[in-house]
Amino acid sequence: MQLIGGTAGSQLTVKLAALLNRPIVDTTIKRFPDNELYVRINQDISNEDIILVQTTYPDEKIVELLLLQNAVRNAGAAHITTVIPYYGYSRQDKKFKQGEPISAQVLAHHIEIDTDKIITIDPHKEYILDFFTKPAKCVSAISEIAKVLQKKGADMLLAPDKGALGRTQEAASIIGCDCDYLEKTRIDGSTVKMEPKNLDVAGKSIAIIDDIISTGGTMAMAIKELKKQKAKQVFAACTHGLFIGTSVEKLKKAGCDEIIATDTVNNKFSKVSTAPCLISLL
Ligand code: R5P
Repeated sequence: MQLIGGTAGSQLTVKLAALLNRPIVDTTIKRFPDNELYVRINQDISNEDIILVQTTYPDEKIVELLLLQNAVRNAGAAHITTVIPYYGYSRQDKKFKQGEPISAQVLAHHIEIDTDKIITIDPHKEYILDFFTKPAKCVSAISEIAKVLQKKGADMLLAPDKGALGRTQEAASIIGCDCDYLEKTRIDGSTVKMEPKNLDVAGKSIAIIDDIISTGGTMAMAIKELKKQKAKQVFAACTHGLFIGTSVEKLKKAGCDEIIATDTVNNKFSKVSTAPCLISLL
């Protein structure tokens, strides 16, 4: 078994390679003058089992993944496992309005062309795995997130809405603390409404856990509510930290004490490695 990391998966690939004690294949990934992508596998990988790691966000990383998969297939790999740490487009998992595509399914159709198996982490909804006709599995990063929150002294966990309560309950049972949920309604892509709810948070260290932080709108609303109710500390935790635009400033302004994300998307808040959760499936 050998590993290949795309540019949106390279740090996680290094961690996985260390845990599995397997080598990373040398590749070239660069751009032509017109900005089209060029990839090449620089070693002989014929008859090797290859683990290819690449997040499908932002858009250009999708093309990179498809080219890498094709290069690996053409190089004669015996078996290809594609690991997609953050499955971009997973939130458009159905036709919400007439005339829309099912974007998560479109990606699945393309991703499965040159792979034998797909693994992803904390997809927004697990049923996106059914869009694949090849074996597709997911793992949860929640146990790794819970360990970090426990060390930070979180004494209560909150889900931003009822739909996210399952993951939060799982983390709370690992830590052995209370959990609850907030009442969020999404108005549009960047606006959310949060119903006031009396929570027993005064003087406590609270962690809000979501699958994705994108604009930071959901977390900021939740943090403001908790600070209003006199929470001592509020942590904003997620698996996939996209942190677009002014999201980080928004979270800080709302009173966020610390932002915690995993390495499915790399940035300065990727403090939790998902490598330990993945190795059981590799
Ligand atoms: C939505 O259903 C997701 O679970 C997240 O709550 C959402 O993507 C967060 O987005 P934002 O940071 O833009 O509020």
